[in-house]
Amino acid sequence: MNDSPIGIFDSGVGGTSIWKEIKTLMPHENTVYLADSRYAPYGEKPEERILQLSIKNTELLLSKGCKLIVVACNTATTNAIAHLRKYYKVPFIGIEPAIKPAALQSQSKKIGVLATKGTLSSSLFHSTSENHANGIQILEQEGTGLVPLIEQGMVKSAKTKELLIKYLEPMLAEGIDYLVLGCTHYPYLIPVLKEILPEKIRIVDSGEAVARQTKAILEKNGLRNTAKEIGRHQFYTNADIAILRSFLNREQSNIETAFLDF
Ligand code: DGL
Repeated sequence: MNDSPIGIFDSGVGGTSIWKEIKTLMPHENTVYLADSRYAPYGEKPEERILQLSIKNTELLLSKGCKLIVVACNTATTNAIAHLRKYYKVPFIGIEPAIKPAALQSQSKKIGVLATKGTLSSSLFHSTSENHANGIQILEQEGTGLVPLIEQGMVKSAKTKELLIKYLEPMLAEGIDYLVLGCTHYPYLIPVLKEILPEKIRIVDSGEAVARQTKAILEKNGLRNTAKEIGRHQFYTNADIAILRSFLNREQSNIETAFLDF
């Protein structure tokens, strides 16, 4: 069981940002990653559809023998993880916008959150932000259009920069000092964000915290892989394999990518 893979899914390539954190923290674990790019973006879909897609991905990962599932998508976590935990026996790790650390450290008491419509409208997001909103103003912004651009590999395009400027200007005018990235696709935008944001604004995401939580839950359940060899990593996409590969091109060891009709 312990050498069974960790399953990871996202609406597309964004969750590879989480996979990178997991691989860095636990290099001996095997992983299976599903990029559900054919159905991206999840963020514009109704809750029921997001749940349906999350169930489809979970069943496929379970059929591949995964011992734990990381829902590497804020939108799927906030809309579907409660149901997944109820219906399946494996442990699930989710990802939510890192409001807590930003709220604790903000000096200006104003933080910005950039996330999908599906995440920002979910009840889980609302309860988390209310818990940490004590004296803090949270400025929410939907990142409409960003996920499709990233899915096309257009991370550094003029259109991407233009959208980011449009979305961030109101928050900057309000005086935020933290920007929370509430979508696993968005860490890939950090180089562009750095061109736009004044240096004093801190960018936070939840990738490392998710990897640490994954490790803790594996340990708690006695599921850590104790093998000495470096882990193997299988990636599946139901869309363009070249784009998925472009997000992995600096990663060398033990990686396989394949198209799968799921
Ligand atoms: N990576 C997903 C997230 O973290 C993107 C959602 C989408 O496909 O809109 O929310």
